[in-house]
Amino acid sequence: MESLQNLVLTTLDREQVIENSIALTLDGAPVDQLALLGALNALTSRDVIVYTPIDVETWVLTDEGTSIADTGSHEAKVFNSVPQGEEGISIAEVQKLLGEVAKFGQGKAFSNKWIKKNGNNLVRLTETIVDKTQLDLQQIRDTGSHSDAVTNDLKKRKLIEKRKSSSFKVEKGPKFTLNVEKEATDITQEMLKSGAWKTANFKKYNFTTAQGIAPVGGHVHPLLKVREEFRQIFFELGFSEMPTNRFVESSFWNFDALFQPQQHPARDAHDTFFLKDPATDDKLPADYLERVKNVHSKGGYGSIGYQYNWKIEEAQKLVLRTHTTAISSWMLYQLAQEKEFRPVKWFSIDRVFRNETVDATHLAEFHQIEGVIADRGITLGDLIGVLHGFFQKLGIEKLRFKPAYNPYTEPSMEIFSWHDGLGKWVEIGNSGMFRPEMLRPMGLPEDVSVIAWGLSLERPTMIKYGIDNIRELVGHKLDLDMVYKNPICRLDKKMGREG
Ligand code: PHE
Repeated sequence: MESLQNLVLTTLDREQVIENSIALTLDGAPVDQLALLGALNALTSRDVIVYTPIDVETWVLTDEGTSIADTGSHEAKVFNSVPQGEEGISIAEVQKLLGEVAKFGQGKAFSNKWIKKNGNNLVRLTETIVDKTQLDLQQIRDTGSHSDAVTNDLKKRKLIEKRKSSSFKVEKGPKFTLNVEKEATDITQEMLKSGAWKTANFKKYNFTTAQGIAPVGGHVHPLLKVREEFRQIFFELGFSEMPTNRFVESSFWNFDALFQPQQHPARDAHDTFFLKDPATDDKLPADYLERVKNVHSKGGYGSIGYQYNWKIEEAQKLVLRTHTTAISSWMLYQLAQEKEFRPVKWFSIDRVFRNETVDATHLAEFHQIEGVIADRGITLGDLIGVLHGFFQKLGIEKLRFKPAYNPYTEPSMEIFSWHDGLGKWVEIGNSGMFRPEMLRPMGLPEDVSVIAWGLSLERPTMIKYGIDNIRELVGHKLDLDMVYKNPICRLDKKMGREG
């Protein structure tokens, strides 16, 4: 930078003006005009020089053009491969010698009347040739130009191409000097000590033309955009959010509290991720634990239970939660500990983990959306009504329910919605009324029922953003551009009557 500034100043001092900066050289090499622009701007800001840009179009040689300028044209090579005399050389021989070049050069060598065919041989028609193509290319390489006829022809043959280049006309400015004092960009300790800061020549802030660095903001992943929409729907319906920051959960809250027997296949290492270190949770509420043990092994509250030997060791095992219903059971237990029962409407949306084989629609982790309502005297009819209200907010009007089984709900219903595009009913969620075997041991009053439902967040997200392989949505194959460019999510929500 400094040497470029020096070059400009000394040249101006000597010649008054630099007509075209393209001619400048530094240590024998042409000056990079972009780097020069930096130096010119620095000098211009101090009125030492003024400059105007010159835009010129020049011709430059392509790789092939360069090779011809160096070693001759294809036609000249063909000519040179033909010996003097009547006999000449066989076409096959020339091909062997020159390969591809023979094919390209022959025609032109014929039309230039340099050689002719004699049977299967090529013979010379002249003793000397002028390789005009080579000479033209050399001229262009040296001067950047030639007559239009020549440049048009060479361009067609892809031997040259146009290049735009910017250079500058530079003249002295009102404060021209050979000794440009370096401007200070910082107040240093020395300046303060010596008082030099009072007279120092400070560089001006460039607030007007400096481009600055493009700020890299965060980008919200599509799953989180859709999650935000679901949160808003729950809030509009008067639900509050459960705290879901418990990715590691004890088997107790994930399974036992939900009346899921200890020998249930879902509690196998094939289906669930168990933790090694720490492997267990020993801070489970003792009296409640006892009631859960009893309801599993002996029954109670009108149930005969599962009639097996319930083991605390199994309940203490830590797992990556397999469903957000683990949060719901933990929250309902807290609710039951309050002095007086109060009705609640809760939801959660967060990540769960299952030891699954990964394919286009399954990963070992995904997100669940869960809604829970606890109140006195609510029924299956309430659940059906709430589900209609919830899915209507998403623009889904037609619902059907199919009896299903969950260890913790009775009755249980799979939720199906009519899919116009597919022309069939598709499963969109699972739901049910929590069993007394789950609620009574917690201490909830007998007339309190709890309805709940769950669905995945991935499925509506993939539909919304047109992604058909889950690995393009989550994981290392994810295209960051997809995350950057996708718009915020607006689900096709129907306004409620209040809307
Ligand atoms: N926990 C269930 C699942 O993992 C979903 C569910 C939630 C079912 C609440 C009923 C009630 O699929």
